[in-house]
Amino acid sequence: MPDKVVDLRSDTVTLPTPEMRRAMAEAELGDDVFSEDPTVNLLEELAAERMGKEAAVLVTSGTQGNLVGVLSHTQRGDEVIVGHQAHVFHYEVAGCAVVGGVQFRTVRNVDGMLDLAELEAAIRPPNVHHPRTSLICIENTHNRDGGAVLDVAQTRSIAEVARRHGVSVHLDGARIFNAAVACGVPARALAADVDSVTFCLSKGLSAPVGSVLCGNEVYIETARKYRKMLGGGMRQAGIIAAAGVVALNTMVDRLAEDHENARVLAEGLAELPGIVLDPKKVRTDIVIFDVISPIGADGLVRALKAKGVLCNVAAPGRIRMVTHYGIVRSDVEWAIRCARDVLEGVTVGAR
Ligand SMILES: Cc1ncc(COP(=O)(O)O)c(C=O)c1O
Repeated sequence: MPDKVVDLRSDTVTLPTPEMRRAMAEAELGDDVFSEDPTVNLLEELAAERMGKEAAVLVTSGTQGNLVGVLSHTQRGDEVIVGHQAHVFHYEVAGCAVVGGVQFRTVRNVDGMLDLAELEAAIRPPNVHHPRTSLICIENTHNRDGGAVLDVAQTRSIAEVARRHGVSVHLDGARIFNAAVACGVPARALAADVDSVTFCLSKGLSAPVGSVLCGNEVYIETARKYRKMLGGGMRQAGIIAAAGVVALNTMVDRLAEDHENARVLAEGLAELPGIVLDPKKVRTDIVIFDVISPIGADGLVRALKAKGVLCNVAAPGRIRMVTHYGIVRSDVEWAIRCARDVLEGVTVGAR
């Protein structure tokens, strides 16, 4: 591996800022299972305020946030409607089915959005044969849909369908601050119409660990029990929360830089032979593109790795790159140059 490494695999590779490390070292601590860690309490208050919800609970990860979030809305045997590209459907080890005994039903999603007619048709009417539809899960920004953003009106239109049928809405807002920055609205505007929202501190916001689940008081009380059941009751968790507080206070507005770098990356890649990419669709920090070059997506990932540029295959023939706090403009320019060198050197039929 060359000395210079440009790591575009994910915004989860971000390292804590010096201010986070200082805050972690100096954090006031207590036992959070007794709700006595002042730094966790501060983070939870701040998170609830940012999401416009009554209460919040710190969880270990986005996956635990979604699992606790879904369990706290549902009973065994319920059905949960999710987009067919949802993270909770593809990448969370079927936790909601295994632990919660719920069944997922998928509805097509395009650019992160659910088709409203299809969504409404998927909600089950009461019938002795049917599971009860109790929850709709949405995702903003949308990971597999290339960081696509749902705006306030789109979120509201989904919530209105849910409300008409007495169904709750959970928002997987792992990257909700990216969505907020892209839309130019506060995050709470994007969470206003949903019953619960979880967001990650350890993606673009660069904290080392943790996510927060937000909702009303009763819901969060239930969530605390499920978190404990799942082994997520942490003791002096203020060490983690301290970085989260810094993340919320200092790292949100700078996400615009990541979006700008992603746009430059997308525009550069779109010009290369063998890449299919519409840069206009890139609105946040995720760039996903198809590889039609004979080298293939796996071959391109390998060739880039040999040059020190790291990225992942997101699906067959498809590569994902993500910009973040550890990536500056010259890194993006370098990644484009490396991709150009590889793709222009590929001869038809070579693999
Ligand atoms: C949309 C979305 N939800 C949830 C998660 C899960 O987060 P974690 O890796 O912290 O479990 C991710 C992780 O990439 C994600 O992209």
